[in-house]
Amino acid sequence: EKGGYDYFMLKEIAEQPKAVADTLLGRIDASGSLTLDEVRISASELREVDKVVIVACGTAFHAGLIAKYAIEHWTRIPCEVELASEFRYRDPILDGRSLVIAISQSGETMDTLMALRHAREQGSKVLAICNTNGSTIPRESDAVLYTHAGPEVAVASTKAFLTQLVACYLVALYLGQVRGTKWGDEIQAVVRDLAEISGEVERVLETMEPVRELARSLAGKNTVLFLGRHVGYPVALEGALKLKELAYMHAEGFAAGELKHGPIALIEADLPVVVVVPSPRGRSVLHDKIVSNIQEIRARGARTIVIAEEGDEAVVPYADHLIRIPATPTLLQPLVATVPLQVFACELATARGNEVDQPRNLAKSVTVE
Ligand code: F6R
Repeated sequence: EKGGYDYFMLKEIAEQPKAVADTLLGRIDASGSLTLDEVRISASELREVDKVVIVACGTAFHAGLIAKYAIEHWTRIPCEVELASEFRYRDPILDGRSLVIAISQSGETMDTLMALRHAREQGSKVLAICNTNGSTIPRESDAVLYTHAGPEVAVASTKAFLTQLVACYLVALYLGQVRGTKWGDEIQAVVRDLAEISGEVERVLETMEPVRELARSLAGKNTVLFLGRHVGYPVALEGALKLKELAYMHAEGFAAGELKHGPIALIEADLPVVVVVPSPRGRSVLHDKIVSNIQEIRARGARTIVIAEEGDEAVVPYADHLIRIPATPTLLQPLVATVPLQVFACELATARGNEVDQPRNLAKSVTVE
């Protein structure tokens, strides 16, 4: 049932190109416009939405953080993202014009379920992004967009995360479409890029051997830091989470711009620091900033592990290890940049003799608080 792989996690990492393609299937028509039949919230209601609030836990929360960048950029609707466990215990400001998006692979996460119940009590519409047909969260939501990742068995989420991202992009584009915001050339281009992204994920998977080798060489380390900017910041958080849960190592993700506000004090000789570099095309300011961040940490002795787009030569002099990913539009980069981090964590777990599919103390579905 592991299809020739040693672990479900490896199989699920390998299934990502198909999971991404399946989640897009039938949702974008030949003219490039989006059809999301499962969204049973009328276009007129969506036009009234004045705020989007995303609630989720763990890896699904990281998908939500990335979604915020896409939603605000493509639709100009303010978007907040909150851990479901925090959201439900404060007094969030919601009303009939708020659209709440609950992201959950299992559809059974108690905190996310409680958050959506709270939102509906305030009169908000809830859209679930979920991987499990007929589970509780979609049953209690006003609308659902299923991710088509197929069953995810390994406790650590991989393919579900990539499909959550795809679903979030689709929702953002759809909101843009029904509201007529920026529904022009840019959006059409994104739709075309999305259609090609599964092939790009496949290409990343074909080049993972050096990442595995690197991971094995770091098995004796205690700490790994992850840095990113813009959508690379949630990717850094996700890379750190994967490493904690699988390799049981101290791992932290930071926004690279925060370095000087504290974290740079952690940098010491030979400390591995993974840096997710935004595309040098497009928003090049971001790229330049992160190149100087890499210089800063390297000057203090960090061992830099740089994830950068093919053709990005500016990072080469400062990268102790360089992991190449295909060029993608900035907002879609997490779909390719996360994959090496999953492979990295999985290989480190193996090298440290850990149980990859069933990490200690963790359950696949957290149905208690
Ligand atoms: C991490 C992981 C967890 C889940 C979280 C939410 O690899 O799997 O952090 O993402 O427990 O679970 P769902 O998506 O089922 O609500």
